[in-house]
Amino acid sequence: MGRVFVSRAIPGHAPELLAAAGHEVEQWPHDLPAPPDALAEALARADGAITMVVDRVDAAMLAGAPRLRILANMAVGYDNVDPEVAAAAGVWLTNTPGVLAETSADFAFALMLGLARQLGRSEADTRAGGWKTWTPTAFLGADVHGATLGIVGMGEIGEAMARRAAGFDMRVLYASRTRKPALEARHGYRWASFEELLAQSDFISIHTPLTAETRHMFGAPQFALMKREAMLINTSRGGVIDQDALVVALRAGELAGAALDVTDPEPLPLGHPLFRLPNVVITPHIASASLATRSRMAEMAAANVIAVLEGRDPYNPVNRPARARS
Ligand code: GLV
Repeated sequence: MGRVFVSRAIPGHAPELLAAAGHEVEQWPHDLPAPPDALAEALARADGAITMVVDRVDAAMLAGAPRLRILANMAVGYDNVDPEVAAAAGVWLTNTPGVLAETSADFAFALMLGLARQLGRSEADTRAGGWKTWTPTAFLGADVHGATLGIVGMGEIGEAMARRAAGFDMRVLYASRTRKPALEARHGYRWASFEELLAQSDFISIHTPLTAETRHMFGAPQFALMKREAMLINTSRGGVIDQDALVVALRAGELAGAALDVTDPEPLPLGHPLFRLPNVVITPHIASASLATRSRMAEMAAANVIAVLEGRDPYNPVNRPARARS
């Protein structure tokens, strides 16, 4: 049947599923990504590929891969490939919606709690011998329960975040392209303009994809609108935040802290000023990283590849080639 390139070591049974469907699997065996040349070479031999969010595939790579029929991204986001460019080349692009929403919201909530209650700093200090006695003033944080949570982007992960907030008696505001009256009626979430959300929220959690419209939607003017005690949580894409402006705003005390699972670039260079700010938590893009969820994402990507290589439409398309390659 076909040859499928899997661009990384992945959990779960995706390679076995591909092999059981009769495909030959070529897998990049490392945790570090294939350099662009190696990725282009592997795609040039492949009929299908499972790719990661950091595998940038452009028009030239697609032109150099005449057999390639599908790029199955093992992610819900797909800003590493332009869907229209892939469609114009006759290549399907798919993602993994649904399966990672709960796990990603768990992590966004964990970041919010960890940032508010100084989990990282207090733990590091304890390990370094800083715990001398109980003190009434050490690591004073902010209460999450009862606070106002502003959700930017009320898609499936934003909704999962809002459900968690209910258990903490939080008031939920949301700003989203699409208003969701049913959610408002059922749960009491309140739709707000972006500016209103910025001004009223104690915690702001970003769940919007990176697009031309959302790039740097958090910059100097937005930080200036936030409460000085507000904290920002980003598990979407680093490019949604103007990081230089964030550093300036944090130094000026325009907001109280930030927890970033995504940065621009990734990884964030160790010398970056964000690493020197005590009220910043940085994790390595792991919001969906539970064993079960990452396995399901890989297997979903494999199912999309198998469908296309068997001449069927994929289950989770984000584009539709006018003339798909066969
Ligand atoms: C991860 O960032 C994803 O888009 O799934």
